[in-house]
Formats: sequence, structure tokens, C-alpha cells
Amino acid sequence: MSRAHRRTAALSAAVLAVPLFLTGPATAAPPPEVDGTGAEELLVIGHRGASGYRPEHTLASYELAARMGADYVEPDVVSTSDGVLVARHENEISETTDVAEHPEFADRRTTRTIDGVELTGWFTEDFTLAELRTLRAVERLPDVREENTLYDGLYQVPTLEEVLDLREDLSRELDREIGVYVETKHPTYFDGIGLSLEEPLLAALAEAGLDRDHSPVFVQSFETANLRELDAVADVPLVQLVSATGAPADLVAAGDPRTYADLATAEGLAGIGEYADGVGPDKNLVIPREADGTLGEPTAFVDDAHAADLLVHPYTFRNENTFLPVDLREGAAEDDYGRAIDEQLAFWETGIDGLFTDNPDTGVVSRELFTD
Ligand code: G3P
Ligand code: CA
Repeated sequence: MSRAHRRTAALSAAVLAVPLFLTGPATAAPPPEVDGTGAEELLVIGHRGASGYRPEHTLASYELAARMGADYVEPDVVSTSDGVLVARHENEISETTDVAEHPEFADRRTTRTIDGVELTGWFTEDFTLAELRTLRAVERLPDVREENTLYDGLYQVPTLEEVLDLREDLSRELDREIGVYVETKHPTYFDGIGLSLEEPLLAALAEAGLDRDHSPVFVQSFETANLRELDAVADVPLVQLVSATGAPADLVAAGDPRTYADLATAEGLAGIGEYADGVGPDKNLVIPREADGTLGEPTAFVDDAHAADLLVHPYTFRNENTFLPVDLREGAAEDDYGRAIDEQLAFWETGIDGLFTDNPDTGVVSRELFTD
């Protein structure tokens, strides 16, 4: 049995192993009338929550995103040493937690190679959930988002289960379905250390009743093999992330020469359409910048993706000058807000189906201006 087939078999077993009382009987009421694929909606996705206003990947960040009007909140997930999925942008946590201030964990500092990149720091896979819960989140971009440091030290690293519970509570309170847009981080790496992400992810979604094709869920990945395997065993909508540079780590590990540039061609997108429901491109693949840093002209990416029956949700839209095309910047400081709404309007005009933003309130405004 090939490695890929072993993983698919393991995933199948994980799905079958979910107790019936968690998935509900066959006669259970249908899920709420929510088109989880977002096919007829323009989606505002709270990137790492409302990370423009709170330390990313905290319950406070996700809650604020939902209250600002985000349709989906976006947890990136990694594993603890005891196999619990937690929300962090990376498994290396020195920039997003106060771990360096904990002398009891000083000897956990180490160097690892993750997807070909050597990193030194502290890694979630070296901490049990109980240990990780003694840490507190901090702002990852204190120079650009100094206001957010106000909240340093207040919030724990949330588990995926807590994010799903929050989603349910907020959906009820706000009287609209809040979706979750979960990214599996470094799946090949975690597979290699015996902490595969997909089985606990599917089990958590099933337990929350979010494992159906119209559940308000997307599962996204920068890798390809895990999405293909999920497509074989799960119903949830899948999104292939496409970076502007490099190649998927699973393809590199397998000696496959294809790069993200290959995936972004019409032919590459047609291939993605065989297993995914959407594609999440770096926004520069949709509208690149000119050599002078100004916003350029749209590429064929959106049309090619739509021809492959794929939704298009580019990342990442942010209000601060440092992240904007030079012709949309206002004021002198890199953390001043520029004309982020104008940038987003240019992208809505290309026909995208949603966008990831650190500032969900801005995304809601730009969508209103576009659709009115
Ligand atoms: O998942 C969309 C976007 O978040 C991908 O980039 O690095 O912010 O997870 P990253
Ligand atoms: Ca992400």
C-alpha cells in the first residue's frame, strides 16, 4: 500500500470511527439553510479572526471578526504533542506567545526544519495541551499594530474545539450562520512525526455537526495530497491555497517538480477542480503589482478558476500602508491606514467570490459598496 493510500485508509477509518451519536442518526434534521460553499455569496473571511485589532488566532479575535460581520473566521491549525488541534499560524510559537518568558520551558527551545526551512524556537508538537494552556498570546506584528499589544497576555491558545463552540454560540446570538475556514498547517510534516492533522480535524467537525457538503466550513491547505485524500473520504468543501512563489511541500517531498506557478495556470486550475471546491490564491496572482509597486491589471486567474468550477478567495487584505500598493497608501507611516477599500473594490471587480482580511469591518464595507 502506498503512503498516500495508507493515509487515505487511515482517514477513512477515522471517519468511520466517529460514533453515531456524534454524527446524528440518518433521519436527523437537515443542516441550516446555509450554502457552505458560498457559491452565491461574496464572502468576507476574518483572517486569523479580526487580527488587525486583536492578537491573531485568539477567541477574542474570532469573536470580534464575527461581530464585525465576517461570514467565516479562519483558524490555522497545528497539533500539540498529545494530538490536540490548536489555532496558531505556525507550530513555532515564539512570535505569537509569551513562551520565551517561561523559564520552565527554556529547554524546549530547539531547531527544526519545517518544509525545508530551518527554524529555531518553541514548537507546539513539544507541548501537551495542558502545558500550552499556561502560555498567553501576544501580538505578532507589534511594530505595525502597537494598539494590539494592549491585549498581550490576556488570551490562551484556543483549541479547534473551542473555536467550533464559539462559532455555534455566535451563530445563535447573531442569528446568522458563522462559518469556519480551517487551514491545516504543514500536514506532511505533522504526518511525519505521527501527529497527522486530518483525522482529529474530521472528528472535530463531525462532533460539531459540520461534516456535510453544505456545512458552513471550508478546509484549506497549501499542500495538495491531503486535500485529495480528504476529497476521497469527506464531504466538506475544500480549498487549494496557491502561493505566489515556491511549490507545495508535499510535491517537493515526493520529488514532483510542479510549482505553485504551474497550479495557477488554466491547466493547473482544471486539475485542482478535480478535488477542490475553491482556490485561495495570493492576491498578487489575481492583480499583480507593477514594478514600481502600484496596483497592476487583473490576470486570467479568476476566469480560469471559474472555468474549472472553483470559487476564488484571495488572501490577504489589510488596512495598513505597508501591505498596500504604493498608489493606495495615505500618510507617511507604514502603520497608517491607506485606501484599503479601493484596493478591495478593484479585486471585487475581477469577479472574486470572497476575500481573506485582517480587517473584517473594512471587508464588509467594500462588499457593500461593490454590491450596492
Ligand atoms: O489561508 C489563507 C491565508 O491565511 C494563507 O496564508 O500564511 O496567512 O496562513 P497564511
Ligand atoms: Ca491561513
